[in-house]
Amino acid sequence: MEVKNSNSETLILGIESSCDDTSAAIIRNETILSNVVANQKIHTEYGGVVPELASRAHQQNIIPVVDLALRRAGVTVDQLAAVAFTRGPGLLGSLLVGTSFAKGLALSRGIPLIEVNHLQAHVLALFIREKDREKDREKDFPNPSPLFPFLCLLVSGGNSQIILVRDHLDMEIIGQTIDDAAGEAFDKCAKVMGMPYPGGPYIDKLAKEGDPLKFRFTKPRIPGLDYSFSGLKTNFLYFLRDRLKENPEFIEENKADLSASLQLTIIDILMGKLVKAAKTMKIKEIAVAGGVSANSGLRKALQEEAILRRWNLHIPKFEYTMDNAAMIAMAGYYKYLRGDFAGQDTVPFARTQL
Ligand code: KG4
Repeated sequence: MEVKNSNSETLILGIESSCDDTSAAIIRNETILSNVVANQKIHTEYGGVVPELASRAHQQNIIPVVDLALRRAGVTVDQLAAVAFTRGPGLLGSLLVGTSFAKGLALSRGIPLIEVNHLQAHVLALFIREKDREKDREKDFPNPSPLFPFLCLLVSGGNSQIILVRDHLDMEIIGQTIDDAAGEAFDKCAKVMGMPYPGGPYIDKLAKEGDPLKFRFTKPRIPGLDYSFSGLKTNFLYFLRDRLKENPEFIEENKADLSASLQLTIIDILMGKLVKAAKTMKIKEIAVAGGVSANSGLRKALQEEAILRRWNLHIPKFEYTMDNAAMIAMAGYYKYLRGDFAGQDTVPFARTQL
């Protein structure tokens, strides 16, 4: 196996196929050259991701997506130093597509194969550099990349965790959901209100026009730094069921207020434990990652808290908050530097811790 140019320009192909987005990216050291994401629209009509349809769509998308990522980066396959892929957690059938493709490419080119933990990659998205990016990020945040150790609130469709990040590849979950994830709470409550999947962005948009104090929903009392969102979801469902009995138009007439009130409750729950973790660990270097970090209310709450508590706050660029291969390539680069390579016998996993 050939290990190329380890101390100068390392070009890595990242592949992400853990859920319903097929993505490929090329990174040169820590600088992203291309990041192509093919969204699978087919799931919208089912109100959630259908695993079998997702893996079939990945099979159709993967070659064109990788091809486009290479072309956009102006890179040929011969120049690649390694192939990094999402090993898990995620949907097994979907992960198998990316894993098999990465294995085949690494074997045929004689280059290292690197397995990446999807959750770790979400955190490492904070370190992605762009060719013309420096000025953008520095405008809002004086310190572009977080300093170690930092706390990262990882909030996505499948995870709500507070992670203590000691180094690029040394992370520990210090709090996590015991049932649903924050993204699931957004999506399931949105579905009850008749919004398409995923509902998080729709709630975010509507919340801007609503009164966040109009309705009050339940907040869990979970000890320590763990989260719970299933009680809120059930509370929201029963609340709507009761109101709809009195007024069948209740949802339509109150959609913006319902969205704003629900969003505020989710944000309060997320922020409560994050503030507690920051106090307990005495850490002021704070970051957020994952799809839900695109939420404008959460971003605002984080920024307000950062001013109040003198946090040094890090929020990834919008396109790197959702599932994407740029973060997989980024994680691949750090593993490449350590010579942390995977064998051809590597299999994907559906569930994992960091
Ligand atoms: O990290 P991500 O792309 O992937 C998975 O975990 O699969 O996160 C997707 C989640 C979905 O639950 C989606 O509703 C949520 O992120 N999301 C949002 C927003 N944008 C995406 N939730 C609230 N507000 C948003 N603006």
